[in-house]
Amino acid sequence: MSEEIIALRKRVMSCIKCGLSKSRKNAVPGSGNIQSEIIFIGEAPGRSEDLQGEPFVGTAGQILSEALEYAGLKRSDIYITNVVKCRPPNNRQPLKEEQDACREHLLKELEIIRPKMICILGNTAFSSLLNGNSITKNRGKIIHRAGQLYFVTIHPAAAIYNPDLRQVLKDDMKFLAQTLDKIKKGLQIETLE
Ligand code: URA
Ligand code: SF4
Repeated sequence: MSEEIIALRKRVMSCIKCGLSKSRKNAVPGSGNIQSEIIFIGEAPGRSEDLQGEPFVGTAGQILSEALEYAGLKRSDIYITNVVKCRPPNNRQPLKEEQDACREHLLKELEIIRPKMICILGNTAFSSLLNGNSITKNRGKIIHRAGQLYFVTIHPAAAIYNPDLRQVLKDDMKFLAQTLDKIKKGLQIETLE
């Protein structure tokens, strides 16, 4: 791990920049391979993540892992994080002010990893990073914004009780993996501006 990421993890774990610091058990910094070409961004830690201090280790995480595996991607190859690093009480959506307070940590992660692709998981990350309202029209698409590529898909928690959405996530992950391959080979890809 680079010194920079170790320093960032420490800052996150002791951060008290917003009210979520009061109710959390553990802050949850991002985790994974910092050489990764792709970073996945979810919403906020849930109960399991809060207890373990690791992102996407609960049911939603299992669904994400399954979809990644289906696409030939491994959790250990990629980097995963969240818009906010502390669990909101009762898993409510993080407030705008909490997202804003936590943004410096996310920006630092992006600066360290410099991913070729940012994978947006669900509406909170979509609105926080791209100012979008709803992923419906953009799901499964690649967006090119300010020199950065983004891929938009559903939040894995949305698929917990919905087998159809599980397949959507799997197919999206496959498309994402294929797109990354194309980018690496210098091939043209279709994007929305
Ligand atoms: N949901 C998220 O958005 N992030 C996690 O880390 C776990 C569940
Ligand atoms: Fe700090 Fe982010 Fe946790 Fe708020 S959610 S206390 S800004 S790490």
